[in-house]
Amino acid sequence: MTISAEDIKNLHKYEVRILKALERMMRRYRWVPEDDLKAAVHLSDSELKFRLGNLIHKDLVRSDSVPYKGYALVFAGYDALALSALADKGSITALGAHIGVGKESEIYEALGFGVVVLKLHKIGQRSFNTVRTNREYMPEGGHCPWIFASAKSAEREFEALQALNGKVSVPVPIDINRHTIVMSFVPGVNLNRCTLENPEATWDEIISQLKIAYGLGYIHGDLSEYNIMISDDSLWIIDWPQWVTPGHRNADATLLHDLETVAEFFRKKYQIEPDVEAAVSFIKSA
Ligand SMILES: Nc1ncnc2c1ncn2[C@@H]1O[C@H](COP(=O)(O)OP(=O)(O)OP(=O)(O)O)[C@@H](O)[C@H]1O
Ligand SMILES: [Mg+2]
Repeated sequence: MTISAEDIKNLHKYEVRILKALERMMRRYRWVPEDDLKAAVHLSDSELKFRLGNLIHKDLVRSDSVPYKGYALVFAGYDALALSALADKGSITALGAHIGVGKESEIYEALGFGVVVLKLHKIGQRSFNTVRTNREYMPEGGHCPWIFASAKSAEREFEALQALNGKVSVPVPIDINRHTIVMSFVPGVNLNRCTLENPEATWDEIISQLKIAYGLGYIHGDLSEYNIMISDDSLWIIDWPQWVTPGHRNADATLLHDLETVAEFFRKKYQIEPDVEAAVSFIKSA
């Protein structure tokens, strides 16, 4: 679902208060009981009813009455909390085009300090959307795995961007809130969507970037022609939440898989034969 900037701007402070209370209480409940919510937000019955009505109407919260009257935060409500926090800090001042929906993220352009990109990590979204029919998804005890997993994925990506920024060509990390990261917009197109003049030189450049990242402790883990952005004179490696360290038990297999994926793309599209073994030795050499 696409976020509406208007909905976020028009969130009333009581609605934000309710969303935050639900976020907190969903560590304990699948459906936060009405009485607990009421005790947490300190609003009159009529105010709470009115604000919850608005939140449900905007699809930020869901309600259920079986086996008891309860409320649950959904992804769009979590999005609203992250975006309103980033807007309050000034990290984003306007929401722009929705530039992509991946399996596990949504990407928007936005204005912040210049043009920025918002990446909202969405782990477990699909399973969560079936929660009404598939209650088992939430483990007993009412943990809310999609909130935790999505925020964790954003944190991992932000950590890698911070460590690599200035040394490896990656988007500049600007801010993070919950499952959402703000980063610089890179003015390139995905490698699969451009035609290279000198594919050998681009392969070499990718390998030299990966070597620097490896030396800093990061193996990408999800490298492909979709996660490399190209402009006339630069390239960027994006989409870092799945990194592993060189000491990880699957490090070698992960590095090889990253390189094989990109090599296969070059073989097919440019009929060149990149030397993956040489690249592995080069990346791992001191
Ligand atoms: N900083 C950026 N600047 C410009 N475009 C970006 C930026 N970050 C992401 N994009 C665009 O959004 C797309 C998706 O971003 P990203 O690869 O980080 O997410 P994703 O998780 O891959 O989604 P998927 O689940 O499909 O793998 C990229 O392929 C790219 O086209
Ligand atoms: Mg990607």
